[in-house]
Amino acid sequence: MKVSVVGSGYVGTTAAACLAELGHTVVNVDVDEDVVDSLNSGETPIHEPGLDSLVAEHGGNRLQATTDYSEIADTDVTLVCLPTPSRDDGGVDTSVVVEGARGIGEAIADRDGFHVVAVKSTVVPGTVDGEVVPALEEASGEIEDEGFGVASNPEFLREGSAVDDFLHPDKVVVGARDDRVFDVMQELYRPLLDGSDAEYVETGVREAEAIKYANNAFLAAKISVVNEIANVCKEAGVDSYEVFDAVGLDHRISSNFTRSGLGWGGSCFPKDVDALRAFAREEGYEPDLLDAVVDVNDLQPRRLVSLLSDNVELNGSRVAVLGLSFKPETDDVRNSRALDVIPRLVERGSDVVVYDPEAMENAREALDVEVEYAASAEEAVDDADAVVVATDWPEFDGLDTGDAFVVDGRRVDVDADRYEGLTW
Ligand SMILES: NC(=O)c1ccc[n+]([C@@H]2O[C@H](COP(=O)([O-])OP(=O)(O)OC[C@H]3O[C@@H](n4cnc5c(N)ncnc54)[C@H](O)[C@@H]3O)[C@@H](O)[C@H]2O)c1
Repeated sequence: MKVSVVGSGYVGTTAAACLAELGHTVVNVDVDEDVVDSLNSGETPIHEPGLDSLVAEHGGNRLQATTDYSEIADTDVTLVCLPTPSRDDGGVDTSVVVEGARGIGEAIADRDGFHVVAVKSTVVPGTVDGEVVPALEEASGEIEDEGFGVASNPEFLREGSAVDDFLHPDKVVVGARDDRVFDVMQELYRPLLDGSDAEYVETGVREAEAIKYANNAFLAAKISVVNEIANVCKEAGVDSYEVFDAVGLDHRISSNFTRSGLGWGGSCFPKDVDALRAFAREEGYEPDLLDAVVDVNDLQPRRLVSLLSDNVELNGSRVAVLGLSFKPETDDVRNSRALDVIPRLVERGSDVVVYDPEAMENAREALDVEVEYAASAEEAVDDADAVVVATDWPEFDGLDTGDAFVVDGRRVDVDADRYEGLTW
């Protein structure tokens, strides 16, 4: 099958490389020429385990990247993997998705066959019908169901295991209203679904859009509930990890997402929970529980700094922050908890030295406070008065932190004499 993927970020590059691996011929469209050049020369523009070998094999071959939207014309289906950042009010900024839909519409204007446009970007219910379809119709001069059909096909991959999640998902969700669209989407995913345990869910367009938000809001809420109970445990001198190791044995709860600590970050949970809260209010519903989910998450970095300052005079101290990415195995620092903690330490007069195995470059761009960048975890902790563990990279296990006072936000097995867990 000939497939276009618009956007070559975490979702787009992963989808494009995996679909090429599954045997499809893929055109990956992105406005960033560096990204396009890197893909065509077989190099992945982002760090994801397993992505380098897929892009090395298919980049420039079965996976061709381009800045030219017109190449979409020759394909059967387009997956929209464009960014949907937060607006100032927390709602979703759909402008890039709508701009992309116009580009796709122009590309398919003179096409003879039926073309399917599936939106993988996370958008609130009503966006595909209310914004994407009108942009496609205006730019292509076609009307829906004649020249093209639409689907909502939300993506559930996790950064850090994106390739594995894409190729071995729990579920593939397709929301559409036209059997021809369902047929195309089934053909697209058949090589992935054949022989796999993944559930294939066909539903309405708005329901598919909502499923993604329900999924992420639920997971964020689960972490915040665990963190709130773990904060109580900490105050009471109870080890929350022993508590949740047992709680997680209850199959109704499960042990997934029961590790308490510094909270959730990344490019998805914060923006998706905010978008759902803004959407709820637009629909006339006060999402009190989701507000509390965010409040607990915002509290965790403040509790970490306060725990550290109870034990170390922050002013004038050298504090090493280990881990800058929002979770291990990714170089993504968007809404990383470390980037919330670091300015608080600088504000309190600490000299901060940071280290991350993959995210140093992205952190340099994202941080607007003065910090020192160490070449290794050992170098960062050398001479430090205090150490903060902000991301549970496996390489921090067993790290000798010397005399430094450690506050661990992720329950990493560091070799420390002076140590406090954030929630245990
Ligand atoms: N990152 C995740 O883990 C994840 C998981 C599931 C869903 N999502 C959703 O998928 C969507 C994409 O997320 P992402 O993290 O891959 O984004 P990203 O920011 O990593 O990548 C977006 C890409 O789109 C490109 N781009 C921007 N404007 C463009 C345009 N007009 N035409 C073509 N390319 C353009 C950028 O250059 C960039 O390469 C978002 O809606 C996100 O919420 C993300």
